[in-house]
Amino acid sequence: MAGYLVEDARKVTTHRLIEMKQQGKKIAMLTAYDYTMARIIDAAGVDSILIGDSASNVMAGNFTTLPMTVDQMIYHAKSVVKAVKRALVVCDMPFGSYQVSATEAVTNAIRIMKESHCDALKLEGGEEIIDAVKAILNAGIPVCGHLGLTPQSINKFGTYAVRAKEEAEAEKLVRDAHLLQDAGCFAIVLEKIPASLCKRVCEELYIPVIGIGAGASDGQVLVGQDMLGLNDGFKPKFLRHYANLAEVVIDAVGQYVTDVKSGDFPNENECY
Ligand code: KIV
Repeated sequence: MAGYLVEDARKVTTHRLIEMKQQGKKIAMLTAYDYTMARIIDAAGVDSILIGDSASNVMAGNFTTLPMTVDQMIYHAKSVVKAVKRALVVCDMPFGSYQVSATEAVTNAIRIMKESHCDALKLEGGEEIIDAVKAILNAGIPVCGHLGLTPQSINKFGTYAVRAKEEAEAEKLVRDAHLLQDAGCFAIVLEKIPASLCKRVCEELYIPVIGIGAGASDGQVLVGQDMLGLNDGFKPKFLRHYANLAEVVIDAVGQYVTDVKSGDFPNENECY
């Protein structure tokens, strides 16, 4: 598949993302959950593809990410991995798969890596899950952290509003970011926090910070379907629409329906 020209066509590694930060090169990450979309997004030159547990909302129509299971994440990750040639493929560990104990976390992490062949895992949280993070890293599995708005804790937060606006929460976030870096994480996602706090974390850490709704940072991540305009009901301030694919699909499907009903499709060139 023809794609955008990328400076370096080699497979992206966790080390390369750290090098990119050192070289002042921004990291572009998008989510994907299936083969077809992952193939297109990879060809378009993203540095990393995240199989987010947002698959729960985007693919399964759930209200939160909590229902996702390890089996479901493996199914999505396997489909994505088969499509990707260049991007670093990161898979979310779903809610409940790493919070019970470090042993259970590493067992689930190994299973996701073995069965999906993805490159790395992402976990939500800081100090509370640091033992799980360390156990997974000790098993040789690269880990990306995720702080700020962590959707798996939505029932505790009670709202999807911006996190860490108050000093105590902001200071905890900075401490957690250092803990994750010191443990050996290769990157951290910061979701929906003030831009000034994200800037501070970017400056203090040597590992890349990938933001979503967090202002300028070492990289950005968006949900693929959201930035392509497939989810027309979701318009948070931080989201930039790069296309309106919902409109494109509605027009195309509407035309198909018209052609089938009028007998225009199929025509003689579309028959055997
Ligand atoms: O699940 C997801 O899509 C995510 C990103 C929004 C960072 O965690």
